[in-house]
Formats: sequence, structure tokens, C-alpha cells
Amino acid sequence: MALKITILMAMSLNGIISRKETESVIAWTSPEDKNMLYENIKSSYVLIMGRKSFQPVYKKLTAAPIYVMTNDINLLNKEKTQVIYTNAKPCKLSEFLSKQGLKNALLLGGVKTNIEFLQQGLVSEIKITIEPKLFGVGMPFITNSVLDKNLELMSVKQANAKSSLFLCYKVINEKSL
Ligand SMILES: NC(=O)c1ccc[n+]([C@@H]2O[C@H](COP(=O)([O-])OP(=O)(O)OC[C@H]3O[C@@H](n4cnc5c(N)ncnc54)[C@H](OP(=O)(O)O)[C@@H]3O)[C@@H](O)[C@H]2O)c1
Repeated sequence: MALKITILMAMSLNGIISRKETESVIAWTSPEDKNMLYENIKSSYVLIMGRKSFQPVYKKLTAAPIYVMTNDINLLNKEKTQVIYTNAKPCKLSEFLSKQGLKNALLLGGVKTNIEFLQQGLVSEIKITIEPKLFGVGMPFITNSVLDKNLELMSVKQANAKSSLFLCYKVINEKSL
């Protein structure tokens, strides 16, 4: 069975996922979103993220392998521990993990990395938290890329009294039509 890859991201109502590159998302997300993120990390077989989104705290939250995408030769030469730096093509990484018998992976951003996996038709599900915020400056969920996908809404949940919303979408990839 193919690996099920789920993107998990938080955004403002206007689709901003990062106010500034160096700031962690947990600086502005709700406690409910942080809990949901940690629960998803704990229950995942494997985490995947871009080098700019990797944070050492993830190592404390799970024993699962963490694949960090990078072209940095120093990182690629590091000893493979729980954190595995890789420059494999997303489709090759997905194939490799499937062959290991892994069933699901959590793709934790950022924008560049998510887009590559989406473009290659590797993402099955997108879990988005919409926080009740508007940011005039920042990085949008999707930017500067050739991408045209249909989604199907699977669930909506109001996560707290402040109206943080948890949305879950199925991604309709061509091969699943
Ligand atoms: N709101 C949220 O839920 C959320 C979640 C996660 C991240 N974020 C935010 O997203 C921002 C970072 O996003 P980003 O798009 O700038 O960066 P990113 O996707 O996290 O990382 C990009 C880096 O990953 C590596 N990479 C990606 N694809 C690769 C491939 N196919 N082969 C080899 N290396 C590859 C490259 O690393 P090298 O440069 O080392 O070669 C690239 O520069 C941060 O501000 C972060 O806070 C937000």
C-alpha cells in the first residue's frame, strides 16, 4: 500500500503560514493547535520537513524517524540518527518509505517542501488549522508555483471558543480519479 502523506499546517484567515522566517509557528497558534500538532507527531510513523522548518523540539515529541530535506552537504554527511538529512527526490523518498512498510507520514512544511510533494501528487490529505488572525506580511501557504489541485472537504471542527478551525481535506490526485 502506498504511503499516505498528510500535510499539517496552521495559517491565518488570509492564508499566511509564517509572519517571519525565523519565527516558529507556535508563537501565534492556539493551545488547541499545538496539542493537535503534538498528538499528530506522536502518532505518526515518520515525519518529513524542509530544512528551514525542522526544529530540534520534534525529536522530543516522537521516536519516529524525521526526514529533513536539504542540499547542504555538511548536513547530508551527518551520521544518520533519528534525524535523517536527505536530498532524495520526494517521489523517491515516498517510494523508499513505502517499501519499508510505513503507512503514514506527516509532512510539516514549509512552503517549498509542501509544494514539491503536492506537485508530484504525493500528498493524500491536508490538515489545516485556521487561526482567527489576519497578517499583512508573511509567507502564504502556496506561492509562486505551478499547482492546480481539487480538494474534498472531509471534516471541519471548531477547536475553541476563539474560533480556531481544524479543517481536513482529501487531495484529489489524478491517479486517484
Ligand atoms: N504555519 C505552519 O504550520 C508552518 C509549518 C512549518 C513551517 N512553517 C514556516 O515555513 C517557513 C519555512 O518554509 P520554506 O518554504 O522557506 O522552507 P522549507 O520548505 O521548510 O525548507 C526549504 C529547504 O528544504 C530543503 N529542500 C526542500 N526540498 C528539497 C529537495 N527536494 N531536495 C533537497 N532539499 C530540499 C532545502 O534546504 P537547503 O537550503 O538546506 O538545501 C530548502 O532550502 C518558516 O518560516 C516556518 O516557520 C510554518
